[in-house]
Amino acid sequence: MCGIVGYIGARKARPILIEGLKRLEYRGYDSAGLALVHDGRLTIRRAVGRIHNLEATLDHDGAEATLGIAHTRWATHGGPTETNAHPHVSADGRIALVHNGIIENYRAIRTFLEQKGVPCITETDTEVLAKLIGHFYNGNLEQAVRDALHDVQGTYGIAVVAAGEPDRIVAARKGSPLIVGIGDGEFIIASDAAAIVAHTNQVIYLSDGEMVTVTRDGFRTTTLDAIPVTKDVQGLEFSLDQIELDGHEHFMAKEIFEQPQSLANTLRGRIDVREGAVHLGGIAAYARDLARARRIIFTAQGTAWHAGLVGEYLFEDIAKLPAETEYASEFRYRNPLIDDGTVVIAISQSGETADTLAALREARQKGALALGIVNVVGSTIARESDAGVYLHCGPEIGVASTKAFTSQLAVLVMLAIRLGRGRFLSQNDAAMLVTELARIPERVAGILAQSDAVRAAAERYIDRENWLFLGRGYNYPVALEGALKLKEISYIHAEGMPAAEMKHGPIALINEGMPVVFIATQRNQYDKVLGNIEEVRSRGGRVIAVATEGDTVISQMAEHVFFVPDVPEPLQPLLTVIPLQLLAYHAAVLRGCNVDKPRNLAKSVTVE
Ligand code: AGP
Repeated sequence: MCGIVGYIGARKARPILIEGLKRLEYRGYDSAGLALVHDGRLTIRRAVGRIHNLEATLDHDGAEATLGIAHTRWATHGGPTETNAHPHVSADGRIALVHNGIIENYRAIRTFLEQKGVPCITETDTEVLAKLIGHFYNGNLEQAVRDALHDVQGTYGIAVVAAGEPDRIVAARKGSPLIVGIGDGEFIIASDAAAIVAHTNQVIYLSDGEMVTVTRDGFRTTTLDAIPVTKDVQGLEFSLDQIELDGHEHFMAKEIFEQPQSLANTLRGRIDVREGAVHLGGIAAYARDLARARRIIFTAQGTAWHAGLVGEYLFEDIAKLPAETEYASEFRYRNPLIDDGTVVIAISQSGETADTLAALREARQKGALALGIVNVVGSTIARESDAGVYLHCGPEIGVASTKAFTSQLAVLVMLAIRLGRGRFLSQNDAAMLVTELARIPERVAGILAQSDAVRAAAERYIDRENWLFLGRGYNYPVALEGALKLKEISYIHAEGMPAAEMKHGPIALINEGMPVVFIATQRNQYDKVLGNIEEVRSRGGRVIAVATEGDTVISQMAEHVFFVPDVPEPLQPLLTVIPLQLLAYHAAVLRGCNVDKPRNLAKSVTVE
C-alpha cells in the first residue's frame, strides 16, 4: 500500500514530509519522492529504494518551502524505477500529484492525452491523472482536480499541488484512505495516521467521493460535485510512543511480546467474570438482529482469514450457529447467496484491505447485516460496517500480523459467547469461558518466556526450504497461520493443513530432515495427532511440537516441544499460535531477512 504525506503551514515542509514517510515505511514500498512548492515553482525529487536514498538527493533547492507532498510507492503498474516513482507531474511540470490506488481506465486516458498532444513517459497509471489535471487546469487547481476525477475509473487517494497556487493542497479519495491532521496553523494530509500523530491528534477522515482543499487558514470538504460536506473532527486513538520500537529490534518483536498487554486492552471493559457475561457496545444496537441470526459468514484475507476460520469453529461450537469463512476476494465476485438472517463479519486489522471492503459492500448490497472486526479506528471498513468491534490492540506496524491476530481471536470468542448466551449457551458454561478468557493475557506471558528455546529450534532448521504445519480442530487454522508467518518473513516455503490431510498426498513430501510442526495439545484428537507424528518420524521428518504443559509423552516423540497451559479448546488458538509467531520471527532474523518490511509485501493491500 503506497504512503501519502502532505504538509502546509508555517514550518519547513521537507523534514516533516521525510519524517512522515519514515513513519509509513512499515507499509512496504520500493521507491519514494516528494514535491515542494516555493518561489513560484516546484522542486521534485524521487529515488528508488529506501527513504534515505531520497534524502541523499535533497539540496538547498526547496529547503525553505512550507508546502509539499510526498509518497512511498509500492509498484503495481510499472517497475520500481525513479521515472515511475511519485510525484508525477502535468505536461508543463507545474502541477504535481501523489496517488495511492489504481486508475483502471488509464489506457483510455493516455490515448485521449496523446491525441491532445500530451504524451506520457512512464509505465504508471498515475501519470495519466497528473497529465489530465494539467489538461483541465486553467488557474483553479480544485476545479481541475474535480474535472479530471470525473473521467477516472478505479481507486485513488491523491494529494495535488501547483506551482502557481502556493497556498493550498487539494486531496481526494475513492477507495484509498486519506486523513487530514489539524494542527496549530498547519495541516498534514496522510494515508495513515502514523504520519500525523507526531504533530496532532485532531483529524478528519475523508470518505469515498470526497475532496478537501487545505490552506494555511483551514480546510473545505466537498463531494466531487462541489457539494459542501461537513466533517466531524475526531481524536486519534493512539500516541506516538505506540508506534516507536521501545527498545525492541523490530516492530514484530515488540508486537509479539506486547500481546499480554494488547490482549488485556482488547478484553478490557468487555468481560464480566463474576456474571460470566460479555458486553460489546459496538454491536448493542443490533442485539435483536443478531439474536435472530441464522448463518454467519466470515470474510477476510490472510491472517484475518485464519482468524475467521477459528471463528467458524467458535460460532458453531459455542453459539451453535452455522458459520463459514470465505476469502473476501472470492466472496465479492461469487454472487453469494445471502438470505434473511445472514450476518457477514468482515475481519481486517487495517480496515482498508480492498477485497475485504468490497466483500463487505457486496454483503450489504444483498441485505446482510454487516459487522466489522477492525483494529484501525475510523478506517473504511469500520465506517462502512453496520456495526462492529474494535480490537483496541494498538497500531500494528510489523507487516506480519501477530497481536492483531490474537486480538481478533479474543473478539471472536467474546462474540461467540455473546451470541451463544442469546441461544443455547448456559450461564455456567459462559462463566467458565469468560473466566478462562480473562486469564489468557497472563498465560501468553508465560509462553513468551520460551522465546530462547524457540530460537534454538529455529536455528537448527533455517537451512530447510520446506516446512509443514499440522493441526486438528481449533488448531488447524493455527497451523495455517504458523505457515503463513514463516513464509512471509523468512521466505521459507511452508504449508499448513489439517493433520489428517497429510496422508492424502503431502506425506510424499516428507523426507529426511524435513521440519514438521505439530500443534499437539491434549483434549480432542490428541491420540490421532500422535499417530500423525509417528507417520512423520518414521519417514525421517523432524518434529517440532506445541503441546500441553505436563505432557511427557510428546517429549519422547519430538525434537523440540513448546508448552502451553491447558485451556478449553475454544481458547487454545490464542496460546498455540504464540510459539509459531516466535518461530517465524527467529527464523527470519537468523536468515537475515527484513522482518518488519518483508520483500514484495505491504502492510495493507488496498489494491486488488
Ligand atoms: C498477515 O501477516 C499478512 N500481513 C496479511 O496476510 C494480512 O493479514 C492480510 O493482508 C489482511 O490484512 P488486514 O487484516 O489489514 O485486512
